[in-house]
Amino acid sequence: MAILKVEHAGSPVLKEVCQPVDKFDSTLRRLLDDMAETMYKQNGIGLAAPQVGQAIRVAVVDIQEGKRGLVEMINPVIVKRSNDVEEDREGCLSVPDIFGDVLRSKKITVEYYNRRGKKQRLTATDLMARCIQHELDHLDGVLFINKAKRLRRGDD
Ligand code: CO
Repeated sequence: MAILKVEHAGSPVLKEVCQPVDKFDSTLRRLLDDMAETMYKQNGIGLAAPQVGQAIRVAVVDIQEGKRGLVEMINPVIVKRSNDVEEDREGCLSVPDIFGDVLRSKKITVEYYNRRGKKQRLTATDLMARCIQHELDHLDGVLFINKAKRLRRGDD
């Protein structure tokens, strides 16, 4: 496994609409391993492939920050979202030390493929739902600073 370089805002790859994955091979598995390791190393709770320079529809999330809660999502699509929305603070490994409040659905259902190419369905609420929505935005070239209110420096 390897720690990957995390791209920062301003890098063109972060603005790309990412391509779907069609090969569930060892290259993909290595990328998933490296993305998780990079996320944990940086104390993040989510990381999307464009953040490590690859414009493909892959993301990892773990709101427990310790491998137990790791979810690997390939070609994820939100198929259902609650009308109930909530504004809360977000940050991003690609926008260090900047935080802002983003309005997100409180509950979502996402369909995705796992590393073996098996289709999965997950319903998530609160922080997990927020994290998934944030990561899926990355796959469409959207950063949280594009939608956040009250952008600020520092973790207050
Ligand atoms: Co992010």
